[in-house]
Amino acid sequence: MPVADFTADARVLWRLLRGQPKEGSHAERLQAFYAPQAERYDAFRARLLHGREELIEELAIAPGERIVELGCGTGSSLERLGRRTPEFASLDLVDLCPALLEQTRQRAAGQANVRVIEADATRWQPGIPVDVVFLSYALTMIPDWASAIANAHAMLRPGGRIGIVDFHLPTDGNPLGMRFWRSWFGHDGVHLSDKHLPALRQLFTERQSSERWAAVPYLPGLRAPYYIFVGERTD
Ligand SMILES: C[S@@+](CC[C@H](N)C(=O)[O-])C[C@H]1O[C@@H](n2cnc3c(N)ncnc32)[C@H](O)[C@@H]1O
Repeated sequence: MPVADFTADARVLWRLLRGQPKEGSHAERLQAFYAPQAERYDAFRARLLHGREELIEELAIAPGERIVELGCGTGSSLERLGRRTPEFASLDLVDLCPALLEQTRQRAAGQANVRVIEADATRWQPGIPVDVVFLSYALTMIPDWASAIANAHAMLRPGGRIGIVDFHLPTDGNPLGMRFWRSWFGHDGVHLSDKHLPALRQLFTERQSSERWAAVPYLPGLRAPYYIFVGERTD
């Protein structure tokens, strides 16, 4: 990797090595963890958080639809949605971390149908039912993740779609490898679980899913397990 890239990553790596603070509320811990790395967040995560473009494609969002992203971070999904964003009826970008939302606000500036909302994904509701909810690498950072998916379910219209991409612990994973990833991610407040996919399949009708392995920056040869799930509210 070029020296310039490492220099750009250094602030993020230092924060990751120190881990997520243990004191304070969940929102305070997120702010303390992300504020020092907010401006460098995107470049580093582009090499760590795989499958985000694919999730957007698989959701097949149509013009005129209402969309919510829970745990939007810096709002980088705006780059992936690109020129199509003005075609949507609304796009609500929700997160609990002010430092990351500041980046989202800069990105969303001038886009009248985009709202940037500081709120808890386990409780916030959009007011009217929406067509699509997605979470990208957010569920593993939400301690009460079961409430977040129940809340996503509640905000969808019947027939609405949910999309998730995130790290997890595959049920057939090597136990030693799974222990490594659980503790490596857990240090930074990312809690891998083997329960997310079963819970999603119970709450939604599955339309598509896949389980994969992703390259991790600065850990050559190692692959972290992640999944993509697209489901529909059919009840
Ligand atoms: C790993 S980041 C992913 C951000 C973004 N979705 C992406 O793909 O780059 C996880 C995000 O979840 C947010 N988050 C964690 N708990 C949350 C909660 N209870 N409500 C809303 N957002 C939350 C964090 O602030 C952070 O922005």
